[in-house]
Amino acid sequence: MSKITIEPFSQITRALVDLFEETLGPGRFARTAYRLRENGSSDKGFGLNAFCEGQLVGTISMTPIAIGGNCGACLIGPLVVSKEQRGQRLGLSLIEEGILLAKEKKMKVALLVGDAAYYEKAQFYHVDPHKIVMPGPVNLQRLLGREIVKDALQDFQGVVTAL
Ligand SMILES: CC(C)(COP(=O)(O)OP(=O)(O)OC[C@H]1O[C@@H](n2cnc3c(N)ncnc32)[C@H](O)[C@@H]1OP(=O)(O)O)[C@@H](O)C(=O)NCCC(=O)NCCS
Repeated sequence: MSKITIEPFSQITRALVDLFEETLGPGRFARTAYRLRENGSSDKGFGLNAFCEGQLVGTISMTPIAIGGNCGACLIGPLVVSKEQRGQRLGLSLIEEGILLAKEKKMKVALLVGDAAYYEKAQFYHVDPHKIVMPGPVNLQRLLGREIVKDALQDFQGVVTAL
């Protein structure tokens, strides 16, 4: 297997847009999580890209959010691994590296909207939809969270807003 390197990204490149298009399609624009990201200040988002032989093969984005007015949380996504590189734990590696990056930025809680069967492998679990409320339609079975700092979730209750 060729060596894969993971590095922070600072801007959305054409290669990134192409990877989103290939793996997520146009349906991504309709999602509440997508709109939250779009409503935030573009300079506050952060993330990681994975490269193999100079080609972009994976990415994870993180957007700072407030929950009930409390900053210190982030929304993860999209997480994408190119079709050729799937099944090698690159997705899980990107999540773990992303959580470390979020921790460096003093984030205490990470939220995402995704498939619980997958994200439970990265310690994301269902959050109480009465306590954490997305600002638009979301399949509540897919609303998941992970504490970056132990017991932090109890301090994050209310509506999710972009920063
Ligand atoms: C979801 C995705 C990121 C997974 O990437 P990946 O690098 O292939 O995943 P990993 O190798 O880290 O998977 C690790 C484990 O999760 C499992 N897994 C992978 N995708 C899964 C899914 N959708 N549901 C449940 N389990 C899944 C793998 O089989 C593997 O299982 P194991 O622990 O028994 O070996 C990738 O399939 C992808 O980009 N999909 C399209 C975009 C997408 O749906 N992104 C998520 C929403 S934003």
